[in-house]
Amino acid sequence: MNAKFITLEGMDGAGKSTHISSIIELLSARGVEVVSTREPGGTELGERLRELLLHEAMHPETETLLMFAARREHIAQVIKPALARGACVLSDRFTDATYAYQCGAKGVDASKIELLEHWVQDSLQPDMTLLFDVPVEVSMQRLSAARTPDKFERESADFFTRIRNAYLQRAQQNPARFRVIDSNQPLAEVAKSVAEAIASL
Ligand code: TYD
Repeated sequence: MNAKFITLEGMDGAGKSTHISSIIELLSARGVEVVSTREPGGTELGERLRELLLHEAMHPETETLLMFAARREHIAQVIKPALARGACVLSDRFTDATYAYQCGAKGVDASKIELLEHWVQDSLQPDMTLLFDVPVEVSMQRLSAARTPDKFERESADFFTRIRNAYLQRAQQNPARFRVIDSNQPLAEVAKSVAEAIASL
């Protein structure tokens, strides 16, 4: 059970953040040290890059490069040391988000992202990725009911559709790693699916 790398993905408004604390509890109950972190961010430099990424307009390729710059630091400072000491790493987003947002929604070449992925991650990949999936209308409704939107959250329905499709395609291409969680259900049902996925690890 130890030293697992788990990532959470989904469109903005899909509800992944709601489940982080229960996942930490489930893992901790098994006596595992859990390192909960996020991208972009997770380090001091990464959090500074996050501020720029979420609030400044920039070319999609610049965005991709900064995401991977933050990721490089995150892997070196947080993810690898935690896995090496047998901890479980729970990251709110990772590289699948770059494929969904920068490639799927903003048109950056997948081959460029692959290049950076190999450079920055070498052979590091999540052991399990929970993809929180909801119809686009639902995620947009949830977002508009919530807080002030960041740069990504102000985008159109078409943009969110491209993100959702890109995520679902990634899940189809990597069935051993992905668990698609239907988040358009009552919270207790979603929590049950999450718990089953974690138990299967
Ligand atoms: P998010 O994870 O949704 O955090 P919060 O719930 O605090 O808004 O915000 C991160 C945003 O960054 C989200 O809109 C997706 C975007 N993002 C990318 O575009 N590419 C990436 O590689 C990553 C990690 C995130």
